Amino acid sequence: MSERIAVYPGSFDPIHNGHLDLIERCRPMYDRLVVAVLRNEAKRALFSVDERLEIIRELVGERHPAGGSRDGGDSGGACEVQSFSGLLVDFMDEVGARVVVRGLRAVTDFEYELQMAMMNRRLNPRVETVFMAPKEEYNYLSSSLVKEVFSLGGDLTGLVPDPVLARLRRHFAKG
Ligand code: PNS
Repeated sequence: MSERIAVYPGSFDPIHNGHLDLIERCRPMYDRLVVAVLRNEAKRALFSVDERLEIIRELVGERHPAGGSRDGGDSGGACEVQSFSGLLVDFMDEVGARVVVRGLRAVTDFEYELQMAMMNRRLNPRVETVFMAPKEEYNYLSSSLVKEVFSLGGDLTGLVPDPVLARLRRHFAKG
């Protein structure tokens, strides 16, 4: 039987607990999960792509299919973190994945997500999108809100992991 490979794409600028919750939920469902960070020069980001990759790798305990585990844990299938540019469907072909995983929070996500799912399927009929609901407490969480709340001195306890908090402090201290 062929390997079940899924891609979880996003900007992850920065990754927050809603994203991490989704990764943990879908890891056991696939043999291999590729967390894919979009390289988008047109979009102004707080963290560089390399920094985002480094943070996510640190948090998910990247585990390659053949190469064993970095964390030795048993939290599901192999998980790896890569960046991609261009069309998501082309990246899906490159890694041999059929499934795109996306989180659905409030109804406001629905229209945009459905549009993307339909377009991706039109571009590559092999690709299916699977929507997953995050834990209720992360339903309103977004990377943009994380940046805004942090920049205004709000408390993000329980919403972002410590390595992200530390990097946010460093970035905003630099001004
Ligand atoms: O976290 P985001 O910013 O909501 O993620 C959006 C992302 C990266 C999934 C989407 O912009 C994307 O797939 N971009 C790659 C370019 C592409 O394939 N565009 C057509 C999508 S229908």
